[in-house]
Amino acid sequence: MKFFVDTAEIKDIRDLHATGLLDGVTTNPSLIAKSGRQFKDVIKEICALVPGPVSAEVAATDYEGMVAEGEVLAKIASNVVIKLPLTLDGLKATKYFSGKGVKTNVTLCFSANQALLAAKVGATYISPFIGRLDDINVDGMDLIHDIRAIYDNFDFETQILAASIRSANHVTQAAIAGADVATIPPAVIYKLADHPLTKSGLEQFVKDWKSTGQSIL
Ligand code: G3P
Repeated sequence: MKFFVDTAEIKDIRDLHATGLLDGVTTNPSLIAKSGRQFKDVIKEICALVPGPVSAEVAATDYEGMVAEGEVLAKIASNVVIKLPLTLDGLKATKYFSGKGVKTNVTLCFSANQALLAAKVGATYISPFIGRLDDINVDGMDLIHDIRAIYDNFDFETQILAASIRSANHVTQAAIAGADVATIPPAVIYKLADHPLTKSGLEQFVKDWKSTGQSIL
């Protein structure tokens, strides 16, 4: 399973990239607004830092506008993935970019039928939003299972990018459900390594090692 980080904060991306765990980055207009920085500058900086796919979302909502903006974003770097909303115009723009060999990430997916349409127009990634479904008392993970089954039935190559991940358990469940990628907030990625028994076990090992008076070096 690939790990993308869902942020526009350069420091977090740099730190996570250094761990060797990071396969790519996703951003969205809300994360760009939170960063307080110029969108295209941020994308350029992220692309120079991370060799993997970097999703940059169009702001337009009409087909012509999405195509025009996507063309600009695609020129920023070769690893830019054009992120488009799951609307009919967004799907049409996805078809346009996939026909040109430009990678796409279709976002704001909340149903299996929407995911089916994204695969039919050749999306590189489909982003089902787990947390936002959970927020309205619908099990977001059921959607990942359904999309996995549909894509496998027809050998669709579109990759399932589990998004709106809010907890370490979401990561586990998305992996079990067969998501190809999880895009995860930095704080949740760090939590994945934590376990109280690891912490206490290591403290004991350090203490016992000191008591031997030995040195490996
Ligand atoms: O990038 C899209 C998605 O991950 C947003 O997550 O927590 O705002 O629902 P959230």
